[in-house]
Amino acid sequence: MSKFNFFSRVASKRVLGGAAAGFVGAGTAAQQFSSQKQARIQEDANAEFNKGYGYYDVVKLPAGCTEGFQIKNNYPIPNQVPAASASRKLPPGPLPGPDLPVPSLDPLDEARWLEVDFRTDPEQYCKLIKEYCWAGNSNNDFNIHKNKFRDWYHAPWMHWNPNGREPINGLTFERPTPALELSKDQHVLRQAWAIGFYNAIGASVFGQIWKDPGNPKWDSHVKFPLGTCVFKVLMTEATEQEVPCLKGAPTLQAVIATPESAAMKTASKRKDHAEPLRLLQVDFAVRDDRIPVGPDGNGWVFGTFMYNGDLTDQDPWDRIIPVGLQWGSDPQLTPTAAAAGEKPKQSWINPDADALLTKLGGQRADLTKRWGVGGRLNGPVDNFKSACASCHSVAENNSKNAVELLPPKDADESTFMRWYRNLGPGQSFSGGDNWSADHSLQLMTGYTNYCLWKNSANGLIHKAKVIIPFSTAGREQKVLEANSRPLRSEDVD
Ligand code: HEC
Repeated sequence: MSKFNFFSRVASKRVLGGAAAGFVGAGTAAQQFSSQKQARIQEDANAEFNKGYGYYDVVKLPAGCTEGFQIKNNYPIPNQVPAASASRKLPPGPLPGPDLPVPSLDPLDEARWLEVDFRTDPEQYCKLIKEYCWAGNSNNDFNIHKNKFRDWYHAPWMHWNPNGREPINGLTFERPTPALELSKDQHVLRQAWAIGFYNAIGASVFGQIWKDPGNPKWDSHVKFPLGTCVFKVLMTEATEQEVPCLKGAPTLQAVIATPESAAMKTASKRKDHAEPLRLLQVDFAVRDDRIPVGPDGNGWVFGTFMYNGDLTDQDPWDRIIPVGLQWGSDPQLTPTAAAAGEKPKQSWINPDADALLTKLGGQRADLTKRWGVGGRLNGPVDNFKSACASCHSVAENNSKNAVELLPPKDADESTFMRWYRNLGPGQSFSGGDNWSADHSLQLMTGYTNYCLWKNSANGLIHKAKVIIPFSTAGREQKVLEANSRPLRSEDVD
């Protein structure tokens, strides 16, 4: 039984219990009232599911702007996606690019990176994924509705959160980057905002859970199929003067948080106008279980790119260099082992990206703060106290908003290493009936947002961190507080 059903059951028991103690017939009226209310909640949930942006009064279109971000959420349901066969040989031929039509094949046929060994040729692996993600997107400012080559989708319910989607391009608040972190010339805290996209195979998982958008069902561990590719563009408020490698960076417009709000690590107060943000980082994750899940890998390959304005590619979106790849969390690499000089074996870091950070001369030039924990992969705007695969390993059906992305500050080594396990599909971070989200933090975040929304619509008490009182104003205030933490990291020094 999912936790979510648990809440509904508590609700109906309470109403029925009151009726049983009272008058004959009142039970039917109460039941009727309760089912009318549930029907209304489902209708509202359906409307929220289709919203591109909008969180109370926090997020709205700036004056004079008539059209905002639209979500693409007509997810395929699993049996509409051709079954992928792991042993299938990929066909020879050119990659689909801006001038080539995409053949309508089994989507796995396009996953050309699965032909490449990411340990021996990581740059080629990154290149094939970048071309796949860029085709029809980079020339349309990542408005996936305009992509004529391939279907991409947005994750649902990423809007309903103080840090949720802004109204122009649907970006979410990622992380405040403290002064001097990116470069020696970055003198103030700057905001990073991002948007992610799932290919059709990956989006079929959303199609399954949200088959009935007003009444989602998540009652088992999920597994993203082979061929899944998801990527994310991360845009920064920092300028070229502050971070010289941003020279000539492509931009996306966004209505971001006020500086005061961002300094409090929340985007619950937004500016009243849009401004350009610059491309700094591109993340991706692809299902690739050629290394079986276990001590040597987690069934995914995470990767990241960084913008480098010294590159001369004509299209500025192409001026990105791979930072690295990560296919597991190195579960043996304890802080003690790392301090003794042991290096990760499940991350590859590009020496050119190291050189770029050294040149920028920010706090990231320091080897201990450069990428992720113990030398594992992380991106330039990420918290160096974490790493891609470990932060993502916590992804599960987090209906009580109780999951922590990072270990507690005072964690002993064995507690700390819980965040560095290679968990496969079917193994959730917390165990029990906390269903695994198979490393998808957007699936987790969106579902948590939905659960908080639904509990607040029901006027129920949220057991974990949120006590939602019964007055509307108080309720909204508490929800604001409950969600007020940056999506990517809550721990900024
Ligand atoms: C401290 C935690 C944290 C770290 C470290 C982190 N991420 Fe994420 N990532 C998130 C959260 C939270 C989301 C969902 C919300 C969002 O999209 O902003 C996310 C979303 C994503 C997505 C969209 C798909 C999904 O899982 O929801 C991709 C792809 C991704 N991250 C890749 C990476 C890569 C690659 C790295 C390392 C370079 C990385 N992440 C490091 C927290 C983290």
